[in-house]
Amino acid sequence: MISKEKINEIKQAVNIVDVIGETISLTKAGRNFLGLCPFHGEKTPSFNVVEDKQFFHCFGCGKSGDVFKFIEEYRGISFSDSVQVVAEKAGIELEQQAVVQRERQVHPHQVLFDIHAEAEKFYHALLMTTKMGAEARQYLHQRGLTDEVIKHFQLGLAPQEQNYLYRHLSGKFSEQDLLASGLFNPADNNLIYDAFQGRIMFPLTDEHGRVLAFSGRIWQQKDSENKQIAKYKNSRSTAIFNKSYELYHLDKAKASIKKSREVYLMEGFMDVIAAHRAGIDNAVASMGTALTREHVHHLAKFCKKVILTYDGDAAGQAATAKALEELQAFQVEIISLPENLDPDEFLARNSEELLHQVLTNSRISDVEFLIQYLKPENPDNLQMQIDFVDQIAPIIAKNKSITAQNSYIYKVADVLPDFDYGQVEAAVNHLRVNERQARSQMISSSQPPLTTFGAELPRQARLSRLVRAENHLFYRMVTHLYILNDYRLREDFAFFTPELQVLFELLKEHGEVTAYDLAQQTEQVQRAWYQVLEEKLPEEVGENELEELERRRHQEQLKRENQQKSRVIREQVHVGNTEAALDELAQLIAQKRKME
Ligand code: GTP
Ligand code: MN
Repeated sequence: MISKEKINEIKQAVNIVDVIGETISLTKAGRNFLGLCPFHGEKTPSFNVVEDKQFFHCFGCGKSGDVFKFIEEYRGISFSDSVQVVAEKAGIELEQQAVVQRERQVHPHQVLFDIHAEAEKFYHALLMTTKMGAEARQYLHQRGLTDEVIKHFQLGLAPQEQNYLYRHLSGKFSEQDLLASGLFNPADNNLIYDAFQGRIMFPLTDEHGRVLAFSGRIWQQKDSENKQIAKYKNSRSTAIFNKSYELYHLDKAKASIKKSREVYLMEGFMDVIAAHRAGIDNAVASMGTALTREHVHHLAKFCKKVILTYDGDAAGQAATAKALEELQAFQVEIISLPENLDPDEFLARNSEELLHQVLTNSRISDVEFLIQYLKPENPDNLQMQIDFVDQIAPIIAKNKSITAQNSYIYKVADVLPDFDYGQVEAAVNHLRVNERQARSQMISSSQPPLTTFGAELPRQARLSRLVRAENHLFYRMVTHLYILNDYRLREDFAFFTPELQVLFELLKEHGEVTAYDLAQQTEQVQRAWYQVLEEKLPEEVGENELEELERRRHQEQLKRENQQKSRVIREQVHVGNTEAALDELAQLIAQKRKME
């Protein structure tokens, strides 16, 4: 790397007329020098060297540039080699590759991670070493957690006090940062209170193990009896915590997920802890919300198979059915625990070995689950049986294995008194034909799919580089709240692509682009939205990804402006206004040099 300053110094030290004059015979013509262009064959000279602006341009072939560009093109060498060549001519020594010290990349919200790391340590120490903690620890012991397990999950205690954590942290962090962490709430009387009081604390980490937030569970008898108090309470959303994306225990589960190529998805933190106690570490939980599409994207980074291990009660079954819809791209198996238990409750009644057994060996397929889940409550009601067959037949027909389809048909016929195998099979067969037709139609027509709005989606590849970079950036804003928040605060930021700017405004206003908002937009804007959704990016944001996108956006925008300028120049040359054209050109070249 040669520094910008050095390059400038070299350029200042030579005269382009001398350098080009070494290889081409130039004659003075007005303010400029003229010669035969070395880049295309010509008999009348149209190759201009403009001394006062230190650049060349050929009106014949259109080549232009500064002294480095000339050497580059003439000798067919790289830019940095051409700098070397010119430096030699100028008698300037180039020191050995000065290593440009890049500043260590720091996360824009590093301070929020620091606050959480401190809070985790503090809460954990309170639980493990204080008298106050002893009672809470006893609660956990009663639930079967050893100190070793408590340590492994870094559980902690937020004491029943108004600002215990605040007092501990207020000397180390600014009030603004502390409030941004989500761990504190300001009150009218100018005081600041701990958001968590009297709760056992579960640190919530990102996949790299950085604590992003907490969930706190009540544990004292008096709280458990009070129906007004939520059993669990999560940190609110912050710049670093998006609970629709994060999964509990993913950091520790990662390795074991990759190895086994499957992940257990559970409802509660205590269930994940129970699995760990039973020797199963590839378990994660969402944070008390239903599984979202963002969670699914997140999981897809690690494996393609999910074992749904939700509670055995009705709510758990409904959640399983809903999760199945989100998990269409995954292979899914389901564990239904006996007697409406969750894994933690199962372990309270049974041994660790038995839980291990159940989690590894008693799985059913998604279709089997749906047969159980959808089957008529009242099997004697004929209409209910018919509805059930209508619902389940397409699910069976989707299965790729005919053998599996047949065994499901048996199971369905088995639960229905008025249907035999042949009748269920007929319903499935009917759909099999449709499925096959649909599939072959999809293959034979190379038409891209239609969007909801009936507009064709141009393929990403056909988009300009600028739009591609901006789509990519916008996608990151949609999926990563902290990125959106960063850009929200940048008043100078706007998308060059007008459609994306419209969507950006919507996103800033509501934090999401709702179907309702979208429906109010022009077709172009709607199409732009669907293009963004088509982005296929890894969930993890690369280290320099955003900087690189910014750079690309600006480069592409400059290119556009340059193309515009070139057009103006061509027009002026066309009408014989060479002086004006050369002025424009000087600007253009300076601009291009800046871009390199
Ligand atoms: P334990 O009672 O400690 O065994 O927890 P659990 O895992 O059996 O709890 P449950 O099945 O009731 O809830 C599962 C998950 O939902 C919990 O891990 C929490 O993440 C979340 N959750 C439960 N209750 C609440 C609540 O009152 N508020 C919020 N925000 N989340 C809750
Ligand atoms: Mn439980």
